Amino acid sequence: AGGAPGDGHSSTTTIEVNGVPHTLAVDNRRVLLDLLREDLGLTGAKKGCDQGQCGACTVLVDGRRVNSCLLPAVALDGSAVTTVEGLADGDEGTDGDGLHPLQRAFLDRDAFQCGYCTPGQICSALGAIGEAAAGHPSHVTDPGAPPGRPVPLTRDEIRERLSGNLCRCGAYPHIVEAVEDVLP
Ligand code: FES
Repeated sequence: AGGAPGDGHSSTTTIEVNGVPHTLAVDNRRVLLDLLREDLGLTGAKKGCDQGQCGACTVLVDGRRVNSCLLPAVALDGSAVTTVEGLADGDEGTDGDGLHPLQRAFLDRDAFQCGYCTPGQICSALGAIGEAAAGHPSHVTDPGAPPGRPVPLTRDEIRERLSGNLCRCGAYPHIVEAVEDVLP
């Protein structure tokens, strides 16, 4: 309900975030990142450039990765958003930490220094793994590969698919290793 994005009005928007539905009056110009951080208190997704260039704000919308700094929240009415806060299941199970396996792998591989880009790296990597499994090619995928088949995530594929996520500390080699750790 409400006006078009950008007209300065609010729209009633229902978004599920980490499994919890939220119905909010959202200014049509408000981006998802600000809604998550300021309205819902979910500060895992970070504001780096605020221009769609660094990837620190990456979250998953219906399983697909997006730069949440660019996306008007009202466009997500009816969508399910997953942020880094929604990944750990808290089940201490066999690994004893309750973390998502990719979070565990980032710790095990020292895949960060300052950690600012880490939530975006992790969400982006999960999106990338899903895209490759669904057969979406990247710029480095062999053009002769059979269409629609899962694309194997080689190191080059991982690097290419995470190239939208910048790390000022230069932890890239360890990030790639962490992603390799969780591949099937
Ligand atoms: Fe969104 Fe940099 S903060 S891409």
